[in-house]
Amino acid sequence: MVRFLMVVSLLLFSCLPAWSQQGGRDNSPVSFIRDVAPIFKENCFGCHGAKNPKGKLDMTKIEALRKGGTKDDPIVPGKPDESHLVDVLKASDASRMPPRETGDALPAAKIAVIERWISQGAKIDSELTPSTDIVKQLRRRWTPPAPLEKYSYPVQMTALAFSPDGKSLVASGHHELTIWDTESGKLTGRLKTRSRRAMALTFLPDGMLVAGGGRPGEEGDVSVYNLKAAPAKTVDGVAWFDGVSDAKVLVRRLLETDDEVQCLALSTDGKSLAAGGCDRMIHLWDLSPGIAGAKLLQSIENHADWVFGVAFSADGKRLASASRDKTAKLWDITAKESLLTFPDHQNPVFGVALKSDGKLGYSAGEDRQIRSWTITTDQGAKQAKTMAGHNGPILKLIQHSKNPWLITASADNSVRLWNADTAAVMKTMAGHTDHVLSIAVSPEGSTLASGSYNGEIRLWKIPDGTAIRDFSGSPGQQLASTTTPAPKK
Ligand code: HEC
Repeated sequence: MVRFLMVVSLLLFSCLPAWSQQGGRDNSPVSFIRDVAPIFKENCFGCHGAKNPKGKLDMTKIEALRKGGTKDDPIVPGKPDESHLVDVLKASDASRMPPRETGDALPAAKIAVIERWISQGAKIDSELTPSTDIVKQLRRRWTPPAPLEKYSYPVQMTALAFSPDGKSLVASGHHELTIWDTESGKLTGRLKTRSRRAMALTFLPDGMLVAGGGRPGEEGDVSVYNLKAAPAKTVDGVAWFDGVSDAKVLVRRLLETDDEVQCLALSTDGKSLAAGGCDRMIHLWDLSPGIAGAKLLQSIENHADWVFGVAFSADGKRLASASRDKTAKLWDITAKESLLTFPDHQNPVFGVALKSDGKLGYSAGEDRQIRSWTITTDQGAKQAKTMAGHNGPILKLIQHSKNPWLITASADNSVRLWNADTAAVMKTMAGHTDHVLSIAVSPEGSTLASGSYNGEIRLWKIPDGTAIRDFSGSPGQQLASTTTPAPKK
């Protein structure tokens, strides 16, 4: 093995340009933002971010990096050999960065790029200033890929929403939203998004579509799209919208954050919007001036981990939330304070709802049950009932808009309809062949759509639970098997 490596390295050396063999240096210009910043982001920002950085060294702004942490400026421009930053990258003792217990040293080629940048004066690109947020700048330089004409594999159906007239169903695709005719199950539209996937979708009363999602670990967004705008092109009856650069389609970006948005909720009067996600925050907007004038009202940090679900009370004054921190919580929007915490799940909580009279909360998650809890703010949240039956985690929980029904989507491949008052299961809808990730109810309340991990979309009549239609939510893909009648021609 050793001999093999020697042969390879000899071959490598012989391929290198002459200056290298002569001990010369590659001195081609290094761009900080193009060449150096991505190395810092991938290997250092996890510990040296803006919030509570290790060694008190925030590397996400040049001015902060050059201020140094517990020690002085780690960079001596022009002199990599005297720069503490290079020392720690090359160190073989406990001072090495990234720390030995968390992984390998940076590859020599990456260290060489950083050394070259320092030897060339540690300059920053002309479009940057010392106070530029490097994370944001890198995000801005990233451009989304164009959607594939035909998918070669099905994508997870992470979010679904019916259009206000109930005739279309919008689903999450790969860097796009797909629009399907509910009667025929045919694809009618595709809307390119910067976001890799939508985790939540909701239509506003005026017909605008709000999508929350992002790229896991990279960025999150809440964006508002106008599906009534003119498409960029129409091919074989499918309208292609550009939700990345066409300002008539992408009407507003309400939120840009560092990690994926997981959930959205719209108040009953349509005037308040809430979003929660992997940055542990819940953001709240006032939509009453219309989407152009929509204002961020509150950014609530009430959970210790990702926020998976949000729901408004019927009067719009309270907001319930569900989190990976194993709790459901209730927030008083007017008083801007936490009202109560329901801790009984002892497992991640994925969905939450509030009874219309405001006296009960419902939450469900990893522990496979819906739990209802009384809302008496002087005594905290007390468990009232449990609704068990799912054989896998409950991944989504929604409330029917007209009846006292709860609907759950589960990793046991089924969807269930529950009577919230009696805590009895009314119907189990089986047919999906993988975890069910998303559910939506049509505006008039009698059709339910569900989407699964392996890309199936299924439509059901409720409350009787009969299957109406099923199709693949990925353009160009077919379902392996179908259980419903052929669509109308
Ligand atoms: C897993 C966490 C972690 C990662 C990843 C990490 N560091 Fe550190 N870094 C630390 C800790 C902890 C300290 C403080 C060590 C001490 O004070 O003894 C530190 C200190 C430093 C310091 C000294 C700061 C000062 O002024 O005291 C520098 C410079 C540094 N790191 C650079 C880097 C670079 C460059 C990277 C990426 C290649 C990186 N670190 C990645 C945890 C990390």
